[in-house]
Amino acid sequence: IRVLAVASEVYPVVKTGGLADVAGALPAALSEHGVATRTLVPGYPAVLGTLASAETLLQWPEFYGGPIRVLGGTHDGLDLYALDAPHLFARPGNPYVGPDGRDWPDNGIRFAALSRMAAEIAQGAIPSFVPDIVHAHDWQAGLVPAYLHYGRQPRPGTVMTVHNLAYQGQFPPDMLATFGLPAESYAMHGVEYYGTISLLKAGLQFADRITTVSPTYAREIQGDEGGMGLGGLLRERSGVLSGILNGIDLSVWNPATDPNIAARYSMEQPAQRAANKVALQQRFGLQVDPDALLLGVISRLSWQKGLDLLLETAPTLLSEGIRLALLGSGDRDLQDRYSALAHAHPGRISVVIGYDEALAHLIQAGADALAVPSRFEPCGLTQLCALRYGAIPIVANVGGLADTVRDVDEAAVAGGAATGVKFAPVTADALAHALRKANLLFNDQVTWRRLQHAGMATDVSWHNRAGSYATLYRELIAAPQR
Ligand code: ADP
Ligand code: GLC
Repeated sequence: IRVLAVASEVYPVVKTGGLADVAGALPAALSEHGVATRTLVPGYPAVLGTLASAETLLQWPEFYGGPIRVLGGTHDGLDLYALDAPHLFARPGNPYVGPDGRDWPDNGIRFAALSRMAAEIAQGAIPSFVPDIVHAHDWQAGLVPAYLHYGRQPRPGTVMTVHNLAYQGQFPPDMLATFGLPAESYAMHGVEYYGTISLLKAGLQFADRITTVSPTYAREIQGDEGGMGLGGLLRERSGVLSGILNGIDLSVWNPATDPNIAARYSMEQPAQRAANKVALQQRFGLQVDPDALLLGVISRLSWQKGLDLLLETAPTLLSEGIRLALLGSGDRDLQDRYSALAHAHPGRISVVIGYDEALAHLIQAGADALAVPSRFEPCGLTQLCALRYGAIPIVANVGGLADTVRDVDEAAVAGGAATGVKFAPVTADALAHALRKANLLFNDQVTWRRLQHAGMATDVSWHNRAGSYATLYRELIAAPQR
């Protein structure tokens, strides 16, 4: 099976969040199931830099306002197609926002062009690779199913994956012609969304299959609150909607080989974790104390992630003697409040504002527990890494967090092995309660080790989850009508 994946970011070339991790890891896992993936990404400078010896597969003098090429090449085991469109993508820094921190004003055109190119490739523009399936990720690729719906038949099947329903890609209705969509598409059962054009809605409306990144999130987004304005559409299309959990790349996230941590360890030999805890405490300027629960956080700082709630639990952290090491960036206000909190409690609470891939690994290896208090979480990857690294996840009972962590109480009832602490509702009080509970467990080292062992033994790999995508592709190829 040949799949053309379309994504606006891909690890390790360009990443702002979990979407890149997924786009970067899924192809290798799919290849174990007989699926060959090529991934179309925008030709940002970072992408073109890694495709130095790439081949030019297409060259057109005019495409959405300028000349373009499509380059094909490999990087780190990934087969990539880059849309080299200098007028759209030759901009340094973040893929979506300019140096002023605002969305690029032409984001609609940039990602319409990416999506249109995917549709062209799907229709045979690169004769050496005509896909059976086109797999579009998030709103940036939302127009792919729409273009193919209105394009030539027959066409490949389309899969739309929602990584986060909160980002919908809305643009003014007068851009319909610029996007190259027919007038009739501007309708309730089309791309129209409360008087705007929504690229995500376009994808959800016209894709043959919709997936999201956990079964619980697949249910949540069919509700009025979780649906964020698209719940009705998703309920209507529930027959083609499913949730497939994300995995993590075990070649990147393996404590036995990780070059970014102070000491390597494994499930069988976890003792060296202690050396990572010391290194982490030192790196964050925390008091070195093996007996104090060290709580880690690795996150974007945004409303979704609920880290304002963790701020509110500071009195609990302090009275319980829990230490906090937080790595994050995002909302100015949250950054400032965390910096102020750390300033007020040196040695006990420490934050690094920024994005630091290597430090994220050290936190996973050195923290006793990892907090993920998200208000909503389509899947979440940091709790999966935490399981793998023996940091006990303390998570809100929502979305993919609910599906990937087994709570101490639930497990007692089910007779299974617990891997973490869950809390609900997503409030500061419930989080504080979970933190106190975790601290009690931590003081009972036998129970704590059992949690850790069960977590490290949990399968968080991509293998089976990629198998679910492969099955979905096969079913779609076999589907008589689409
Ligand atoms: P989201 O995509 O919503 O941000 P995920 O948990 O799916 O959340 O993925 C986040 C990814 O980004 C993980 O790989 C995580 O380790 C990484 N990450 C987030 N913030 C930082 C940071 N400040 N420094 C380094 N890595 C980070
Ligand atoms: C989004 C979600 C996150 C998910 C990631 C990858 O960024 O916020 O929960 O893990 O996509 O699917």
